[in-house]
Amino acid sequence: MSQRPAVFVARQAPAAELARLHALFDVDLNEPDIVLPRSELLQRLQGKLACMITGSERIDAELLEACPELRFVSTVSVGFNHIDVPACTARGVVVTNTPDVLTESTADFGFALMMAAARRMSEGERMLRDGRWQRWSWDLLAGADVHGATLGILGMGRIGQAIARRGHHGFGMPVIYHNRSRLDAAIEAAVGARYVSQDELFAQADHLVLVLPYAPAVHHIVGARQLALMKPTATLTNVARGGIVDENALVAALRAGRPGAAALDVFEGEPQVNPALLTLPNTVLTPHIASATIKTRTAMAALAVDNLLALVSGRPPLTALNPEVLDRQT
Ligand code: 8YV
Repeated sequence: MSQRPAVFVARQAPAAELARLHALFDVDLNEPDIVLPRSELLQRLQGKLACMITGSERIDAELLEACPELRFVSTVSVGFNHIDVPACTARGVVVTNTPDVLTESTADFGFALMMAAARRMSEGERMLRDGRWQRWSWDLLAGADVHGATLGILGMGRIGQAIARRGHHGFGMPVIYHNRSRLDAAIEAAVGARYVSQDELFAQADHLVLVLPYAPAVHHIVGARQLALMKPTATLTNVARGGIVDENALVAALRAGRPGAAALDVFEGEPQVNPALLTLPNTVLTPHIASATIKTRTAMAALAVDNLLALVSGRPPLTALNPEVLDRQT
């Protein structure tokens, strides 16, 4: 029997990062890179000290109960709504995530999505590819300006601030935001942002970007009432989590033309997408790829591996979500 700790790697990762794991662990890799059915996930986790997962694998009390040897969960994501962290803490399981390394790439993508919705890029491409472009006309797919327009941010964490910076410094946009707690004046000044109430945010933003972490408390925080506050020319962009937006309410709102357009990288039942969204012309839809640059995805995998290597070497992980578990262990 091997004395090395066993790790289950739930999805494929860069070869160089897997090689670093192989140096210290017995690695069980989900080679086909499919999202495993729950029963198979539970089975593959048997006897594993650690696992490296993504947003597709749910870690909850039931799983922890069924996998008593599991001690370390390293997720290749900044979001951790797929992990019951309090349940992990209660069982002495350390959880780590991958913040910071994806901030700028995700902000780039959020900004690009917002621009695509404002300038009707997807509509234009669909028209062109379908052979429906017949001639130039003065108002052909005329959209809304981004430069100088009011940028609204719901959730002013690292990624929210990075998007605000782009809008403020790059596009001369007045920035308004709403957040659980107001930021320090120095941070507000650095990204040119003004704190407003949630309703003011919906009513005043020309382009509203959702970047807040998902938790049950914010489920469907964007519903019919909030959408009805938006301007008919406004856009709504979501690079956070699907569950933040009531998609049926959004479909109805987009049909009614308020907001004017939506750009979504995340969906309530992804990878399934509400079919009504697919039929609407005023949507830009992408398959949860906001952090997907080679450099950033590699950095995310590297950080997830660094955390696991630290944990088995008796060093503190770089980005633990429940460091109190480590304090208890030492
Ligand atoms: C990931 C994300 O691609 O980090 C997150 O929270 O949503 C994305 O960057 C996804 O969660 C895969 O783990």
